[in-house]
Order: sequence, then structure tokens, then C-alpha cells
Amino acid sequence: MTTAGDLERKHVLRSWAVQGTNKYDEIVGAKGCWFWDSEGRKYLDFSSQLVNTNIGHQHPKVIEAIKEQADKLCFIAPFYASEPRARLAELIARHTPGDLVKTLFTLGGAEANDNAIKIARAYTGRFKVISRYRSYHGATYGAITLTGDPRRPPVEPGIPGVVRVFEPYCYRCSFGKSYPGCGLECAEHVREVMLYEDPASIAAFFVEPVTGTNGVFVPPKEYLPRIREICSEFGVLLVADEVMTGWGRTGKWFGVDNWNVVPDIMTMAKGITQGYVPLGAVVVNEKIAGYFDDHMLWCGLTYSGHPLACAAGVATVKVYEDENLIEHSAKMGEKFKARLLELKDQHPSIGDVRSIGLFGAIELVKDRETREPLAPWNGPDPGIMGQISGCLKGKGVYVYPRWNYLFLAPPISINDEELKIGLDAVDECLDLADKIL
Ligand SMILES: Cc1ncc(COP(=O)(O)O)c(C=O)c1O
Repeated sequence: MTTAGDLERKHVLRSWAVQGTNKYDEIVGAKGCWFWDSEGRKYLDFSSQLVNTNIGHQHPKVIEAIKEQADKLCFIAPFYASEPRARLAELIARHTPGDLVKTLFTLGGAEANDNAIKIARAYTGRFKVISRYRSYHGATYGAITLTGDPRRPPVEPGIPGVVRVFEPYCYRCSFGKSYPGCGLECAEHVREVMLYEDPASIAAFFVEPVTGTNGVFVPPKEYLPRIREICSEFGVLLVADEVMTGWGRTGKWFGVDNWNVVPDIMTMAKGITQGYVPLGAVVVNEKIAGYFDDHMLWCGLTYSGHPLACAAGVATVKVYEDENLIEHSAKMGEKFKARLLELKDQHPSIGDVRSIGLFGAIELVKDRETREPLAPWNGPDPGIMGQISGCLKGKGVYVYPRWNYLFLAPPISINDEELKIGLDAVDECLDLADKIL
């Protein structure tokens, strides 16, 4: 019998994959923190797929809202008003910090960042954009040019005018310093780069409040407030890419809320609908919104504010509110952090653990003194990372590995028992890494 996997191998081009070598399990169902495959194997989703199913799979309230909206109106062009779009934009304005008031809807995170570049350039009349070397902002041309990570160079040259700076990655500080005696050089160097580049030419600085797919770098508490000051000093717009950190992932509504920083523009996707229907958004502050009252907004998408996606978004935000999931994420995040620190004590292969809310990473090393990574950055897996993921899979736990990192980001609705199942499995499988040291 031809399986979905066989057909996909023949007819589907896969994301980020050498096409001939991949084998994919067919997933046929999911509920809450769990999903299962066509062979009847069940997995705890300990990475929320791609860190997007924040409220878990198949939440009945969201499914119901999508169905109701499908019965009522599946599509209407963006130049008509429609209730789900209007209500979701209002909810976004309510939960984002400060005076972020007006939203342009997109279909995902990359498009949100591309449109944020256009908006920032139009509003400031400036051309350059600053981003960071270990960032990921999406795969469209603008967003991938902003991106620092190894997914960018194969598709260069991207868009012109992008300048990159270093990350607040304290475990491997680019300046060879240690926090707190470092004088926050990772932030001061941004100011220096802005000076060399001519602040009057810089439209925006794009930051993930907590760097996501490149290692979950939780910045020192002074970092983002200082970046806010530097941007304000030069009239550079601060754009917070909250695609991964938004909607409760870090124990707050948005990542920037951990440090009471208000960006000028925020981009988001993932947790806004869980991916039940694709949706992204660019949210701008009052001043920027006002500018476009009498200037053309050169942005547009056929599906901007798609009714099904926005209905899913409205229902999702209601779930966050009604089930107190943001508070739950913060509370579970404390238990998660405590156990990660215990794991670090128990496993010599762990160099560093980082987490905020239910957003975490374990960084594996060959040697704690030299900090040599267990698997090379942007290199082939010497086998051990595959063995660890295989072990976790065998125990029915899905964890997303990359280089020498394991990304742990379960649905923020996770309960104590599920958290324990996931962390126990990680604990047991890390013995494999310890053994090869
Ligand atoms: C911080 C960040 N920005 C942007 C994106 C791109 O989002 P999308 O894949 O929806 O285009 C991602 C995806 O992982 C992300 O983590």
C-alpha cells in the first residue's frame, strides 16, 4: 500500500532538507500535549512542533470557532471589514505592551518581518536595518537576509542594507567577557556599530527578545532596556520579533514584557493561532500608525486577515485568557527551570541550560572546561545527537535537536505529570551523551 510518506517523497518538496535522504513518519492525530502516528505510536510533544502549539493540539474551543467561521464566511478580501479580523486586532492591541495599537496581518512570521522592514523604511525614510548573527527571522528574502544563522548564506545575496551585530550569548561571549563584569559589551557594541554605520541611515534594529532556534539565549536583564535606550537615542525603530517568544512562551504575554520594554514594532505568528490556521502579524505603535493615516502603506496580501485564521486567533486568545495560561506558563516554567538545573548537576555532558517560562535549551559539550560542543555548530551530527533523539523517540517524547542543542518547549498548557514524563526521558537519554565523554 502506498503511504502518505511514499507519496510525499515523490511529490512534495520538504523544508530545509536534502530531499532524497529523509524518512517521515505519518502523523494521523493529536490532542493536547500528545500526537500519534499511523503505526499507533504516541508522542509527548516536548517542543510544541516548531514551538507553535502553545495551547496544545486540537483545542475544542479553537476548532469550534474555525468551524463556525467556515459556515459563516470563509473568505473576504482585505479591503472589506470583517468581524474576526477586527476583534483579533483589538485583542492584540489589548495584550501587547505600551501603545502598540494597529496590526497588518500576514500569513506567517517571515512575511511579518518582511513587512516590518518595509514599514520601518517608509516611516523613517532610512534604509539600513540591523539584526544579529545568531538570529532567525524567517525564510522569505527580506527575513532570511536579516537572519544571521547558516540558513542565510546559501541564498545570498539577499536584500541590500542589512548590518549584523553580535548576540548576548553569555555562555560563549563574543567579547570573551563574563556577566556581570562585562559592562554589557554586547549592547554597547550595537551603539558603536550604529555610530560607524551613521545612525541617520538606520531604520530599525530587529531582535528576538530571547534568541530562539539558535540556542534560547536569555539576555542579561539590563540588555533589552539598554538596547531600547540606544535605539531611542538615534531614532532607530526597535522591532521585537516575537514569533517564537510571543503568546505566553516565556511566562509573560510577550518576551519583551519580562524586561518592561516597549518596542516600536512587534512581529508575531506561531502562538497567535497555534498554526491551526496560518497567521502572522506586524503591530505598530500609535506614531507609526498615524503616519500611515496620510501616507500610502505599500504592503498587501490577498489573504491579509483571513477570516478563518483570525477566528482561530480570537478563540486562541480567549483560551489564553480564560484558562490563565500565561500565569500557568510562568508557574510551570519555575518547575521546568529547577529540574533543568538538577539535570545540569547530574550530567557532565551538559555545558549550559537556559530557560525562561517554558522556553528552554540544553547545550551539550564534550568537556565542561573547554566547552567544546558535543556536535559542531553548523556541521554534521557525529551521531550522538541522532542517538539522543532516537532514544527520546523510543520513550515516546518528541524533542527538537539542532547541532549540540536540545530545544525543550512543551505546550504552555502542560501539566505536572506530562512535564515529568518529558524531563525524565531527557534525563535518561542524556546518559548516552555522558558515556561518550
Ligand atoms: C523568531 C522567528 N521569527 C520568524 C520566524 C519565521 O516564521 P514562519 O516560519 O512562520 O515564517 C521564526 C520561525 O521559526 C522564528 O522563530
